[in-house]
Amino acid sequence: MEVIIVAREEDVAKIAADRVQQQIHQKRDSVLGLATGGTPLRLYDELESRVQKKSISFAAVTTFNLDEYVGLPPDHRQSYAYYMDKHLFSRIDIDREKTFLPSCPDRKYVTRTCEDFEQALRASGGIELQILGIGTNGHIGFNEPTSSLRSSTRVKTLTKQTVRDNSRFFRSGEEQPSLGITMGIGTILKSKRALLIATGNGKATALAQAIEGPLSAMCPASALQLHPNATFVIDIDAASRLSQRAYYLWVMASKDRLERSAEG
Ligand code: GLP
Repeated sequence: MEVIIVAREEDVAKIAADRVQQQIHQKRDSVLGLATGGTPLRLYDELESRVQKKSISFAAVTTFNLDEYVGLPPDHRQSYAYYMDKHLFSRIDIDREKTFLPSCPDRKYVTRTCEDFEQALRASGGIELQILGIGTNGHIGFNEPTSSLRSSTRVKTLTKQTVRDNSRFFRSGEEQPSLGITMGIGTILKSKRALLIATGNGKATALAQAIEGPLSAMCPASALQLHPNATFVIDIDAASRLSQRAYYLWVMASKDRLERSAEG
């Protein structure tokens, strides 16, 4: 796994945007996996600005979101469909027909929604670059601790911690769903590249477990240790509990030296 530690949140967004740009330059009709939450907001701002500068185009890109709340229609202000529209899709040149979320406004249809989502993923040829955040409890998507490491898209009951962490996005008194539909860990592991971004002290313990802890369903993000091409881009605060921090910085410096000597 590649671990990139940077000084500021803005650097996390820039490096992640560079990776998205490289992917789309390599293949204009790339299939991207996208995430929600507070962390990707700067990345989405950065992508919008690159689209405006015409450095990148999403015209041929297909996207699949990691997760969605069960029971919220796409026009609900707290749904991830609404979030994606507001923070990314309405601001870039993407074809909405090529954007997929596991939306399930009516709980009756959850099984069908999960099957259709996996089918659409297969039909697309699979995710080439999956963007991920991480929960304070180590979840990826809504794969909470004890999720099967081979799981596919399904319904998960959210932990109290996740409900608490995400309550900041809901108004007081507003009903907050306790069920989510999420790509499974097995689904995420099928992506060709995975890029996890994280910032702040609140993520430090989860990241230490994910990167250096044992592979365990208790920390779903640790499953990325099995991924053939996973990169973590994190800021100094999020890296504060990594015991091998000096080593990751040393690897980064060595890569820089090699690149500079290859250029010179
Ligand atoms: C939610 C999402 C996750 C996301 C996590 C972290 O629970 N389902 O996909 O990674 O929150 O969010 P934040 O970036 O706001 O800390």
